[in-house]
Amino acid sequence: MNQTTQRPHWSGRIGFILAAAGSAIGLGNIWKFPYITGTNGGGAFVLVYLACVLLIGLPIIIAEIHLGRESQANAVSAFEILHKKGTPWRAVGLLGTLSAFLILSFYSVVGGWVLDFEMRSLLNEFATHDTEAIKGFLDSLFASPWRLVAWHTVFMALTVGIIFGGLTKGIERWNKILMPALFVLLIALLGYSFFLAGFQEALAFIFKPDFTKLTWESTLEAVGQSFFTLSLGMGAMLTYGSYLPKGKSLVGTALSIAFLDTLVALIAGIIVFSVVFTYGQTPGAGPALIFVNLPVLFKSIPGGYFVSVAFFLLVAFAALTSAISILEVVVAFITERFNIANRKTVTAITGSIAWLLGILCALSFNVLKDVKLLGRFTLFDTFDQLTSTITLPLGGLFIALFFGWILGPKAVALAIGTNKGPIAWLILWSCRIAAPVAVAIVLYFGVRGVVSVG
Ligand code: TRP
Repeated sequence: MNQTTQRPHWSGRIGFILAAAGSAIGLGNIWKFPYITGTNGGGAFVLVYLACVLLIGLPIIIAEIHLGRESQANAVSAFEILHKKGTPWRAVGLLGTLSAFLILSFYSVVGGWVLDFEMRSLLNEFATHDTEAIKGFLDSLFASPWRLVAWHTVFMALTVGIIFGGLTKGIERWNKILMPALFVLLIALLGYSFFLAGFQEALAFIFKPDFTKLTWESTLEAVGQSFFTLSLGMGAMLTYGSYLPKGKSLVGTALSIAFLDTLVALIAGIIVFSVVFTYGQTPGAGPALIFVNLPVLFKSIPGGYFVSVAFFLLVAFAALTSAISILEVVVAFITERFNIANRKTVTAITGSIAWLLGILCALSFNVLKDVKLLGRFTLFDTFDQLTSTITLPLGGLFIALFFGWILGPKAVALAIGTNKGPIAWLILWSCRIAAPVAVAIVLYFGVRGVVSVG
């Protein structure tokens, strides 16, 4: 694998942290976290999710970045370089690459919804329609196959376009501008929601656990969400890690990524539920949640026009910085594996495949809405559920086992600079036992529940 010597690298540690946080922070935080917190009953779900981020997510971020950084290779070759050629562990990378197509396809469709709402913001449609009409905007989008597909196409084209720009001039540069901007805007919106009547109720909903609402399936969703939101289990952190120079400890880096990601999800949740409770909406509205209630907020606050234009723009950017990290997994794998010099061709072809799959997802809201698996999952739901609740946790489980048992204490020393002391011990044993066992139990009972209810 001689091309590893010419690998591009991030310009520095901050560049990497922002890109990795850019991958982690996306629709998973702003769209998915609030809506699944709503459908799973609030506090208890959030608590399980936070525990997963700390106990399972953190050690696996370190393990995954380490695999990339030590091998300086894509998600499949990394296992071969660190173990041996033809090792069965490379299946983990292949599973990740396949998942990347599925995730990117539905992700791009939701990215398209955001763009549609950005257009509505620009046209000032929230101010000029009444609340009932605003609530119908998403449904009217769902009813229009061509509009859904058109926006999905735009989103996918933007994703491909940024990757064309390469690592530092494309991926890194955009992340450095957009992530801080998103942060500022979220804090400002949090400030607005503080003055809403529903603010206290929102805090109680998110932070007061009611364990009677917790089921195996919601625990599985919490585990799946912790993988999805941290971009884990599919080789995205591995691939980004492969552009890091070896050396420094990964502990601070992993903590920063997990902290920023969790903060954004919680802030998004507080904003969304403050609006939900202020205007008597239902928390369990599902995927439509942020598209229904936030416009209602924008309609009623001073300067709402600019806030909504900025908000959907930044969500679109957050989604883009995540989408590029998903596509990059596939592009890095194919260019390196088949020794293809022209990255752009590979990007265009793989982007097109994901785009075609995405059309199926887009049409599952209208033309294909009666195509259902297990009697209740549309194609869109299937791609989403299959990846976040099955392939990502499974990928994470095997990454943890590979790191903990095959590579062992030596890898811990390379990843964090030492294999002695409590932190090294925690990382090692979490990867060896705690994380795999927890994921395996939840996967077993969760999947059994989903299948039997279906
Ligand atoms: N983490 C992103 C989000 O929360 C989505 C994402 C980007 C992702 N890369 C990934 C999910 C890799 C799983 C695997 O929106």
